[in-house]
Amino acid sequence: MALMYKELRVLLLVVMLLSRDYGVTSLELLELRVPAHVPLGTRAELSCRWQLGPADILYSVKWYKDGKEFFRHVPRDQEPRRKFPLPGVDVEKSSTNGANVTLAPAILETGGRYRCEVSGERPLFPTVSDHADMIIVALPDQGPTITGSKIRYQIGDRVQVNCTSGRSRPATRLAWYINGEPAPTAALLTPTHQVHSDGLETTSLGLDFKVKSKHFRKGDLKLKCLATIATVYWRSNEESVQGEKLKGYSRSRELTEGASRADRVQAAGKLGGSAPALQLTHCLLIFSATLLQTLPTRLHVDFV
Ligand SMILES: *[C@@H]1O[C@H](CO)[C@@H](O)[C@H](O)[C@H]1NC(C)=O
Ligand SMILES: *[C@@H]1O[C@H](CO)[C@@H](O)[C@H](O)[C@H]1NC(C)=O
Repeated sequence: MALMYKELRVLLLVVMLLSRDYGVTSLELLELRVPAHVPLGTRAELSCRWQLGPADILYSVKWYKDGKEFFRHVPRDQEPRRKFPLPGVDVEKSSTNGANVTLAPAILETGGRYRCEVSGERPLFPTVSDHADMIIVALPDQGPTITGSKIRYQIGDRVQVNCTSGRSRPATRLAWYINGEPAPTAALLTPTHQVHSDGLETTSLGLDFKVKSKHFRKGDLKLKCLATIATVYWRSNEESVQGEKLKGYSRSRELTEGASRADRVQAAGKLGGSAPALQLTHCLLIFSATLLQTLPTRLHVDFV
């Protein structure tokens, strides 16, 4: 019994010493915030949070980009906050304790790996650091454009359209939606990328599917192309087409499904001869205002 008590006391003492020791060297970096994507010409706010141990005194806060120091806060220096020139890294302002630095304006060279390093005073100079990457984004100057669409489609027609992004860096991601649902993979072509001499890229994504009755379930076929760059860019273009569900619909579908474009025209022509049947085969597609702006002549000609 006595022995156990003694052991327990030793154990307690060890635990106390350990936690005391731990307390002395517990300088800790709590959080480093570096925006992952920063649009060209905007501000980037970086922040670093740390916690000093009970016996620690802050010696320095240093900021590095790609291994090169660009800002330093040393409280006991005559000049406690100093900037060091680095291409693309322009410290617009900094907080008194060096925890927050604002870079502006962001240019392509501003992108890179940022490190915050915090050190305690002598004799031990405990040091902690963390890093994070920043990508500078050149936003497209225009939204995605949809090309290749026809004015009229019938059940069985193939919709073959292209979505092309504006020029950006990094490349824009495109996605197609049919009636608000992501387009099935089978309807998507492989995206193509084009790199321009200035380093900016355009992306194209083709959509190819056969019009089925289900696409007009709510009397409306909507094709939407969504362009995104990480979380900083999000823009879409939508074409809305209307289809009328008429009597004898399935019959006309049978007639035209699987037919080529030429066959369809022929089929429609034949039906045109037999009076009201023409209406049954036709789903008139009316494009939304967005497309009206891009295709005024075609639309006009078609409706004349
Ligand atoms: C520093 O940045 C953090 C996180 O962005 C923010 O909460 C805090 O208010 C900023 N402090 C100062 C002094 O600007
Ligand atoms: C879509 O764009 C690509 C690349 O510009 C082109 O090769 C293809 O023919 C276009 N397809 C349609 C349906 O317009």
